[in-house]
Amino acid sequence: MKKVLHVVFLVSLLFATMLGVAYAAPPQQTGQEYTVQADDWLSKLAEKNYGDVLAWPVIWKATQAKAAEDDSFAVIPDPNIIEVGQKLWIPDESEAAALLEQFAAERAAASVEGSADITGELNLLCVVDLEWCEGMVFEFNKLYPGIIINWVRMSSGESLTRLRNEASDPQFDVWWGGPVDSYIAAAKEGLLEPYDSPNAVNLRDPNLMKADDNSWFGIYVGSLGFATNTNYLAEHPEVQAPTSWAELIEPQWKGQILVAHPSSSGTSYTHLCTNIQLKGEEAWDYERALAANVLQFTKSGSAPARFVGAGEAAVAIVFSHDIVAQIEKGLPLKLTFPSEGTGYEIGGTALIKGAKHPDLAKLWIDWALTPAAQELGPKYSAYQAPTVIGAEPSKPELLDVKLIDYDFEFCGSNKKDIIDRFTNEIANAENLKQ
Ligand code: G6P
Repeated sequence: MKKVLHVVFLVSLLFATMLGVAYAAPPQQTGQEYTVQADDWLSKLAEKNYGDVLAWPVIWKATQAKAAEDDSFAVIPDPNIIEVGQKLWIPDESEAAALLEQFAAERAAASVEGSADITGELNLLCVVDLEWCEGMVFEFNKLYPGIIINWVRMSSGESLTRLRNEASDPQFDVWWGGPVDSYIAAAKEGLLEPYDSPNAVNLRDPNLMKADDNSWFGIYVGSLGFATNTNYLAEHPEVQAPTSWAELIEPQWKGQILVAHPSSSGTSYTHLCTNIQLKGEEAWDYERALAANVLQFTKSGSAPARFVGAGEAAVAIVFSHDIVAQIEKGLPLKLTFPSEGTGYEIGGTALIKGAKHPDLAKLWIDWALTPAAQELGPKYSAYQAPTVIGAEPSKPELLDVKLIDYDFEFCGSNKKDIIDRFTNEIANAENLKQ
């Protein structure tokens, strides 16, 4: 079941708990017993009792506490699995914030400790920008100095192609980064190995941020934006930085737009599937008109922000956190968002089926699902929002924009057909700008 992203909402709730109740006395046990009915979920009960699907840890934590002293209450090892007839404890709303804060603190404290005794090789397929790939390898090696990490950075489409081509003899053990559309496509092709990470319980919204079969997990969230060169705007006072998808196909932007090709880039695939969700079949006329304004399609999704920053074109379609990273590096860029609504990504991680070093790959995944790992991004100019409770977004404003209810299942399951149609009907992937 799709759910509109509530990350910003939970952030405000978590901030409120950090600020408002950090010194609160231990929560009193005021609340009510509840017997699980058919079609109940913890998140659904949270929405009913607290108005927020993401407050499910409150009920889980309170019921665990009750079960410890009264065995008539349910023991729930996996918060995604509750059974009809189980007895839960639903604390009063007045206690919810404090319990959520306690859960966040416990999960942050449960972050991976690391070990110098674990040795071996780990082959990592990394999709985010090079600086962050390098940074995360360095940080993981601080925890596990005995593990040699062989890694490669490549874009989403290239990653998926590599995993397909190597399916009979996988060269990679773990895949980290890039929108989960490619992970959903890979899972459907049997290229991923389900793994029930003990840290999946940290995920704010498990229904949205992990595969039902645990074949992939979400490790970050980012929204799609427009980057416009501010020198171009100064030299062309008659134009404004675009604030809608519709403006991008106007004649004034002919040859002035840069975006990656969706066959190679998950960033660009997110823009394409966003417009398919906004416009339906008319998205193909739109993409044809947009392609007429594109100077050249690039291979990498974030590269257009750098090229536009260098003045090679006027507007780039890139994830907003990548635009902010370039602005912070001094490039003359202005960030805007489309008023029709913009798409967003959940960045993924997964164990590759047939991985030669599965245990070390699982260590990486467990670590990637901890608050400590997910708060490292800004150190490497990566401003994606975290997916786990206990980690705070560095730039929550980047998700506080009009997001569409992006259908990851649809976009992931239909990725191959959608890309084939784009390549055949809109633009092929020859001569991509590197
Ligand atoms: C950049 C962004 C990531 C995104 C990735 C996708 O690295 O920072 O958030 O997941 O691009 O890369 P791609 O080249 O496939 O668009």
